[in-house]
Amino acid sequence: MRIEELDTPVLTVDLDIMERNLRSLGEYCQTHGLKLRPHTKTHKIPAIAKMQMASGAAGVTVAKVGEAEVMTSAGLDNILIAYPVLGRAKCERLAKLAQHNIIAVSLDSLEVAQGISEAATRSGSKVDLLVEFDVGMRRCGLQSVDAWVRLAQAVDQLSSVRFSGLMFYPGHIWDALSEQSPALENLSQIIEEIQSKAKHSGLNCGVVTGGSTPTAYNSHRVRGLTEIRPGTYVFNDMNETKAGFSQLSDCALKVQVTVVSNAVQGRAMIDGGSKTFSGDRLISGDKQGFGFVTEHPSVLFAAMSEEHGHLDLGASDRVGVGERLSIIPNHVCACVNMHNQIYYHRNGVVEGSWTVEGRGKLQ
Ligand SMILES: Cc1ncc(COP(=O)(O)O)c(C=O)c1O
Repeated sequence: MRIEELDTPVLTVDLDIMERNLRSLGEYCQTHGLKLRPHTKTHKIPAIAKMQMASGAAGVTVAKVGEAEVMTSAGLDNILIAYPVLGRAKCERLAKLAQHNIIAVSLDSLEVAQGISEAATRSGSKVDLLVEFDVGMRRCGLQSVDAWVRLAQAVDQLSSVRFSGLMFYPGHIWDALSEQSPALENLSQIIEEIQSKAKHSGLNCGVVTGGSTPTAYNSHRVRGLTEIRPGTYVFNDMNETKAGFSQLSDCALKVQVTVVSNAVQGRAMIDGGSKTFSGDRLISGDKQGFGFVTEHPSVLFAAMSEEHGHLDLGASDRVGVGERLSIIPNHVCACVNMHNQIYYHRNGVVEGSWTVEGRGKLQ
């Protein structure tokens, strides 16, 4: 079957492109002696996580305990939950996972560390804990090195957990690769100060995990970094492409849609809106549009209703009812999360499909 025969709207992944993306970052990390721990929130599919492991990853990252459960039940081990796990119900599930798997969690409060320590003690397991530092995103993470050291010391004293190092997420860095030097130098200085104070306090900060897709290929310039966690690189999307971190030809995932109406002058409606693409606006480049229409580059994907994508045709010819289009979404992680299934193909020939198993695993 060819992708043109799939009913729409539907997600398709070009395996050749995805494999190239995986290979390229795997080789980069190997060349620079960096561990790769891809964030699987982009795809939520154990089979792709296994392909990432085969291309050099040392383990994977997830955001939620439910996603870790999906990954471990598919046979993946060595998982970082890069999110504070809080509350008895989640901690019990986490501790249970840690009985048979290597599980790490990042956090920035003693409350979270204590809850995990108590649950791990009850279940007789051990959980690795990383203390997060805010390097500029202002989302999670301690904001002073002294506060970071104090929490790391407190974590180090708890039972049934191991303090294993520093976690940060440089999600605020979207400068062009060639213009990231000041931001990378800032990261290096933060890491060096933390490492030096940790050492002085008798802490063994062996793991320093950071990284994102926009900074991925500059990771070797961050002094002290041991591991990176890019997620989007597996598929890439319009945010990455308009910011210059990927080319259109590096975008592995497309949303296949059909034009269902062209009755309104200058417009065409496709059979996917915000329930197909997610409502994410473009955050890079000209910040225009909700996706790139591969077949008509000058057409603007201008607006969305829940089930209608509104295309502004501009000077383009009329787009016919029934015409199939393939669209690269703005934010691929959010788009994938709207779908149960992804079909994979080579040169347009469908080879199979994956279930998005981690979808809806929000707890
Ligand atoms: C904690 C954390 N690590 C890694 C990533 C992956 O970054 P990117 O989406 O740039 O690949 C994310 C993305 O949201 C994240 O939240």
